Formats: sequence, C-alpha cells, structure tokens
Amino acid sequence: MSETLKFVVLSDLHLVRHGAVSMTLDTAERLEQAVGCINERYADADFCIIAGDLADEAEAEAYERLKAIAGGIQIPTYITLGNHDDRATFLAVFGEEWADETGKVNHVIDAKGYRVIVLDSSEPGRVDGVLTALQMDWLRAHLAEAADMPVIVVLHHNANALHIEADTIKLLDDAPFIAALKTHNDIRQVIAGHVHLTSTAIYHGIPFTTLAGGHYSVSFNADQPRTPFKSLTGPGQMAVVLGTPHSTTVLFEDFIDGNAVIGIHTPE
Ligand SMILES: [Fe+2]
Repeated sequence: MSETLKFVVLSDLHLVRHGAVSMTLDTAERLEQAVGCINERYADADFCIIAGDLADEAEAEAYERLKAIAGGIQIPTYITLGNHDDRATFLAVFGEEWADETGKVNHVIDAKGYRVIVLDSSEPGRVDGVLTALQMDWLRAHLAEAADMPVIVVLHHNANALHIEADTIKLLDDAPFIAALKTHNDIRQVIAGHVHLTSTAIYHGIPFTTLAGGHYSVSFNADQPRTPFKSLTGPGQMAVVLGTPHSTTVLFEDFIDGNAVIGIHTPE
C-alpha cells in the first residue's frame, strides 16, 4: 500500500425494496456497479465512505439490501446518513453501536497522516441538513486533537450555496460549522453529496466539493435558481480522494456513463 492517502466516497444510493425502482432506475444494480468498480480499481484504497441517502424511503428492507451489497466492498467502509434516511431504522439493521455519544452516526478515521471526519447531517423530518450543537462540540474536540494533521470532512449536505434551485435544501445553518472548521488551520476538503451534481467551490476560504453520487443526476441553471431543471439517468459517480502531505486531490470516477472509448493512451 502506498504512502498516499487514498479513499473513495459514494453517496446518494437511494436503495429501494426488491423489485422496485427509484426515478425509473434500479438503484441496487447501480450500487452493485459501484462496488464492482471499487473492488476492481480501488482495492488498494485505505477505505470507502458512503455519505448518506442510503435508502430512498428508509424502509428496513432497503438497509438490509445496503448491508448485503455494500458488504461486498473489499476495503473498510464507513457509512453516514442523509435526508432520505431514518436513523432508527438504519441502527436497527446495522446495530446501535453505529451511533456515537452525539446520538448520530459520525466517524473519525486517522490514516496516512490525515484525519478524516465523517458527520451525520440528517435531521428527522427535514430535507435540509442540521449539525447539532453537540456535534459542533464533538467536531471542535476532534479538530483540536488533530491540530498538526491535515483534515478532510465528509457529510451528506452541502454547506455552501451552489447558486441553483437546490440551495433551499442545503445545510440549514452553516455558520457554526464554518466557525468550527476555522478552529483548524489545515482543512483540505469538505466533501458532500445531496445535490446529485458535481461542483467545487471555495467558501469562507475552505474548499468544498460535491459529487453526483449513485442515483440520478440533475441539470442546473447557473445563477438562475427559479428555472426548471432536469433529472438525468447518469452518471453514477464516486469521488476518489488522494492525499499527500502537500496536496489533496479529488478525482471523479463515473462508474456509469454514456461514453464510448475512442482511444487508450500509455504515459511514457
Ligand atoms: Fe439524494
């Protein structure tokens, strides 16, 4: 295994019951393609994070399917929740030990000189995201412990507005989150799903990224947030994060796309 931190992020799986589809798409089959891609191309990665919207309607059967399909991922896998999820149902299937002292499904992962913090931004009954005061205390404590390490944060909801229609459902109150992040001087990335499209931004001096995830993707109308937008069949997209002491790179792997290969290049 190399000295470079390497991990993959999946999000927005939107799994449904056996025999059902979501927005015309067989989301379980799409997750199986993601798992196949990870095992084939990223088996040497340090871990995988699944960043919420695991289930579409949060029934136990969807979480059982997640357990069965994601159980095939051959690297350690950390999971958190999104707005489509139900924490009680998730914990009933996966085990109560997945919730920590904040009552939510957060994780701290130390690898290759980095600290990666996974935050559960789901809040029952809400489509937008909430990070509680308890979680902000927890985040500040875990950032303080890692004062000398670069940090990457992964959560479901985007904290920054993207200047599109979906801005109404972003993280509800991002100010305490930004203030907590600002207590650390080396936040390398904050990576989210939720919006079903790819974006990158600097917000309050911190780099923020979203990935399109595993379900349908959306078109957008930049800076025209009241314009109708389309739901599209693809891509199925994961993020691949590479970290060295002085660089942090996010690549986007479309494990489902509409492209045909027109050439293969071999670097010198
Ligand atoms: Fe989603």
